[in-house]
Amino acid sequence: GLPVEVNISKLEPGQMIRVEWRGKPIWVVRRTTAMSQNLNSHNDKLRDPHSLEPQQPDYATNATRSIKPDIFIAVGICTHLGCSPTYVRDDFSREIEGVDSGFLCPCHGSGFDMAGRVFQGQPAPLNLVIPPHRYLDDERVLIG
Ligand code: FES
Repeated sequence: GLPVEVNISKLEPGQMIRVEWRGKPIWVVRRTTAMSQNLNSHNDKLRDPHSLEPQQPDYATNATRSIKPDIFIAVGICTHLGCSPTYVRDDFSREIEGVDSGFLCPCHGSGFDMAGRVFQGQPAPLNLVIPPHRYLDDERVLIG
């Protein structure tokens, strides 16, 4: 499949753009400051907080699982049985106490944080996949 170019210049904090790459949903989210800060606060609740499993390129094997700290890019497919999780903004603490935002799989309830990391005790075994991508300039990112 061909790479897909996404323009992030109009993406507001907290917003998500969805595109398709190789038939898969790709999410591009601009995390709010609160979302980014919260990433450090719940590592003890995550199955693979430090991204030891190869679910992301080397350049996204970091604390935010991203190249730019605020821009989160992931394949929107649950690592359990392949449903597409729902982005839950500011109302996620009903699922995971103390975590404001994340992604909730509608099929069997797996929860992921704003870096796509799966919480412990969920059916999904692995963090969400980060697709290969690179920035062409400040406004454009190429997925694939
Ligand atoms: Fe997502 Fe089962 S497919 S929890």
